[in-house]
Parts: sequence; structure tokens; C-alpha cells
Amino acid sequence: MQETHQGRTSALARRPVPLLALLLLPLFAAGCAYNLPQSTTVVAGSHNQTLWEPYRVIFWLAGIVFVAIMALTLWISIRFRERPGRAPLQLHGNTRLEVLWTFIPVVIVVVMAVPTVSAIQRSAEAPPADALKIVAIGHQWWFEFVYPDLKLTTANELHIPEGKAVVFEIRSQDVIHAFWVPQLAGKIDMVPGHVNGISFTALPGKARAEPYLGQCAELCGLSHAHMRFRVYVDTAADFDTWAKNNTANAARPTEATASKGAEVFARAACIGCHTAKGTAAAGLIGPDLTHVGSRATIAAGTLANSADNLAKWIANSGDFKPGSKMPPMAQAHGGALTDEEIKAVAAYLLALK
Ligand code: CUA
Repeated sequence: MQETHQGRTSALARRPVPLLALLLLPLFAAGCAYNLPQSTTVVAGSHNQTLWEPYRVIFWLAGIVFVAIMALTLWISIRFRERPGRAPLQLHGNTRLEVLWTFIPVVIVVVMAVPTVSAIQRSAEAPPADALKIVAIGHQWWFEFVYPDLKLTTANELHIPEGKAVVFEIRSQDVIHAFWVPQLAGKIDMVPGHVNGISFTALPGKARAEPYLGQCAELCGLSHAHMRFRVYVDTAADFDTWAKNNTANAARPTEATASKGAEVFARAACIGCHTAKGTAAAGLIGPDLTHVGSRATIAAGTLANSADNLAKWIANSGDFKPGSKMPPMAQAHGGALTDEEIKAVAAYLLALK
């Protein structure tokens, strides 16, 4: 036993540098992956910018403390280790050291507190009066977005103009969810029976065709992991075009399959839960489908929006989102619709641009 212990110690003593480098390697590798779609280190929104400032100070201070403590521990373990014929030196109390290791943490805490308190104050500031108002409502397992002033309702894909303040009223329909778009803002809990608020500006120059990825950040049931959303930061002109298109009534299908799909949609269970503005469909339980064909994804960011995926989703949504509140519609899964009818409904929905 004694021999094994000494064997290990001497291995570390002989090669401390390569061993330490090996231990630090994963840390460096992790640091290289900062530029991912849901990394808070990429700052595109004012709220994330506010949070990032104290985070950066704390990160570097914690990093320095970590490296210093680890290096000291390693050096002391090697330098003062037990050796044959020499017992380790025992010391009790050192006033100078004790004062020092009380004083240094106090200074560090004060240095961290200044940007932290400032960030808390700034993130709680009232938004400008002309901020764009959006109500975000969490549902199991999708996001509803209502623009009350534009009379516009959409789901899972949010559009905001760059450089303009947006103020969110954050709600939940059922259980606690959380609104989080790491590069822009959040996270903030969506609590049933309580209204939360958050406001931010997508920084000027951050408009792009590719969306910023958002995610429910509070465990909310079986399909929590499938509760995603996308935020499109548009130029002012693109936003106006989008808003104008999305306030219009649902398009009337022109093509034969889509027209048949519209008939099926209107007589099947669909309209009990979904809305297609300007038609008989005025259900409020599921996502508003008035312009579903213009979205890039369906099922809260789980599937690409295509005729095939729409048909599979309608047939049995539980295949993709366990626990989905939408009952299976295909006869093969106990529903009322034939495969042909489902394909027609998918064609109709895809035509709702
Ligand atoms: Cu909603 Cu997790």
C-alpha cells in the first residue's frame, strides 16, 4: 500500500508539467467553442450585453483565482511532500497570511459587486415609450407571440426590428416555462397567473436572414427539450413587410390539393384548436396557423416546415413530441383522417404563406 502511494507521487513529481498540461487541455478545448448559436458570449442584444459585462469581470477574476490556487496547491504538494527520512513540517497559525486571505477575497467581492449592481439596475430600467410591445405566452410545448398593436399573432418564430426597443409581457398558459434567447436576452420565467417583463434592443447591425435561437429554459414536462423558438432580427423595412403580410387574413388556396385540404381542415377537429384568420377556424388552444406556410419550422422548431413533415406531424404529433396535446389524426393511429386527407391538409397549410 505504502509502495503504491509513493509510486504515484513520484510519477507526478517526475512529470508535473506534461500531466498538468494534459489536465488543462479539455479546458482550452472548451474555450475554443464560444461561437455557437446559443452561446451567451456572442452579444447581439442589449440585455445580453448588460449581463455580459459583470460576467466578463467575474469570469476573469474566478479564472485567476482558480489558476493561482491550483498552482499553489500543486507546488506546495510537491515541495513539502513527505520523503523518506523527513517528516512534513507542521505549522499552526500565521497572522500575516490569515489577514491576507481575508482581505483579498473582500477586495474581489467588491470589484465584482460594482458591475453586478450596475447591471441589475440597467436591466430593470423602464423601456422607452415607443418600444414595440409583444406578449410572449408559454404553452406545453410551444411559444405564442402576440403583437397587440399590430393585431398580429404568431407562434414559435418571432420577428423584431434591429435597433428598436422591444418590450415583452411574459406569461404562461399552463406550467412554468422560461424565455431565453442566449445571444439576445433572458432568461426570464414564464409563470402561470403572473406577468413578468423584459425589454431589450437587438443591436444595430445585427439583422440577418439566419434566426437567433431561443429555448425554453425551465423543465416543463415530457417535451421540454422540444420547446424551441426562433427570433428573426429584421431591418426596419423587412420587419414592416413581414408584419404587413402576417396581419393579413389566411390566403385562399388556389391549387386543387390545397383546396381539398382547406375543406378537410374546416370539417375536421383542426378548427377546434387552431385559428386561420378570415376562415371558420378560430380555435385558441394550439398555434395560430394563419401564416404557418411562411415559417421555416413547425412543432416549436423541432421539424423543418415541409409537406412531408407537416403530414407526419398531423398523422401523429406524439412521434416527434412525446406528450403533445394534439391528438393523432391518422386512422392508423386511431384518428379520423385518411393519408390522402392528411396530405391535402399539409398542402393547404403550406400554402398559408
Ligand atoms: Cu417549456 Cu421547458
